[in-house]
Amino acid sequence: MLYSTCVIGGSVIGFKFGGPIEPDLFYDREKEIGFLLNKLLEIKRGIRHSYALVGPRRMGKSSIIRLLEGRLVEKDIIPIIIDCEGGEIAKQAELTLELFLNLWGNSVLDTYFEHARAAEKIRLKKSIIGTKDGIVLALSEVLGRVRALEIKTISDYLNFRIEFEKATERRKPSSEELMQLFEDTMNLSERIGEEEGEYFVIMLDEFQNVGKFKLPFPFIPAFRRHLQRQKRTTYLLTGSNIGMMEHILLGGPFGGHIPIEWVNSFDLDVACSFLRERFAGLSRVIEEDAIREIAKLTNGHPAYLNWFGEQCCKEIGEGERIPIELVWALGEKIFERDGLMHVFEEDIRKVSPKKGKIFQTFVEMIGHDLTSPSEISKHVVRSTPTEIITYLKRLEQRGFIRRIEEGRYVVVDEMLRNYVKKKIHST
Ligand SMILES: Nc1ncnc2c1ncn2[C@@H]1O[C@H](COP(=O)(O)OP(=O)(O)OP(=O)(O)O)[C@@H](O)[C@H]1O
Ligand SMILES: [Mg+2]
Repeated sequence: MLYSTCVIGGSVIGFKFGGPIEPDLFYDREKEIGFLLNKLLEIKRGIRHSYALVGPRRMGKSSIIRLLEGRLVEKDIIPIIIDCEGGEIAKQAELTLELFLNLWGNSVLDTYFEHARAAEKIRLKKSIIGTKDGIVLALSEVLGRVRALEIKTISDYLNFRIEFEKATERRKPSSEELMQLFEDTMNLSERIGEEEGEYFVIMLDEFQNVGKFKLPFPFIPAFRRHLQRQKRTTYLLTGSNIGMMEHILLGGPFGGHIPIEWVNSFDLDVACSFLRERFAGLSRVIEEDAIREIAKLTNGHPAYLNWFGEQCCKEIGEGERIPIELVWALGEKIFERDGLMHVFEEDIRKVSPKKGKIFQTFVEMIGHDLTSPSEISKHVVRSTPTEIITYLKRLEQRGFIRRIEEGRYVVVDEMLRNYVKKKIHST
């Protein structure tokens, strides 16, 4: 057990910084959860609503979909979570459509088997790793057992996958073969749904990454075509590259058909209640001014709130008081090596690994508190305002900055902004 969590009345309470949190540690977001659940459940009445959850990094999108996963299971709907950025995908050197579709198909099958209580007998996940021979073997083994369950859709799909893997054993798959894999994978949940009377919610986490896959055909319009036709599958797409998500969802083939639900920081009142409840649960004494100070320093950002909470509990034992001075000290420590420096440095690498003009634009903007392209261009060597607008758009697409009004941009993550600012002024 972490030092900053404890079990009270059978449920875990406490702080945890980093990665999606367990439903036990999940706080608030009741409005968002209630709304999404109501909408997604309507699929059982034949009304399909797909939604997108969009918000800055570490705001709690993945945690929300993990919570929804449990709630959907309770309602007898099969939730599929596909991480388009982490997990199996992160391990691969190159993101290919083939890999993504195999992961998709395997996730649908695995979750369905689990739902159908056949999980102990059938498992598939490992099969996308390794040689094609290994994959064929693994798929054939599963096929053998699936035949006994007499689910034609799954047998058909596995047969197809085996043929596909064999055909592409010693060469790259052709566009036609990939198109077929795409069609069969997209149809899988829908067909299981029809044959077995099930409903699926497919949650694609960090969806904007599908744009980065090496694709033989435009994925988004093809995906949209399927999405429109399906009756037993609905989708929840999340993304932290805000501008990219807006671009995909509002323009182009989706044309606003998938509404965006924004995930933002906790309101200051909610942030204070969160801290109050969690510290009390962990038997720490903390005064209101210290609580408000944490809420203010973090702007109610859920991940940073957890970091402050964890750190306070590391420093101060049970039954003892957390002084406001500790909160101030942590406000400095967060930017240091034993704080979240590694997290901010990783973010910065994502701004631009090669530290070119886009990177300079970001740094100059922060260093001089600038918001407009013409001001910024005076500080970025050999650049015109028009070029700066292009760089700002890139930064906006990746979710680092947002446009607040015509010609005015601000940095999204205040904490990252403060880190960069400190770094500039200390060098
Ligand atoms: N509802 C919540 N209650 C408590 N803490 C939360 C909540 N949501 C998020 N957090 C905190 O934020 C952290 C990040 O959450 P999560 O990974 O779900 O965010 P995310 O938006 O998916 O991030 P990323 O964009 O990096 O994938 C968690 O580790 C936790 O500290
Ligand atoms: Mg996430």
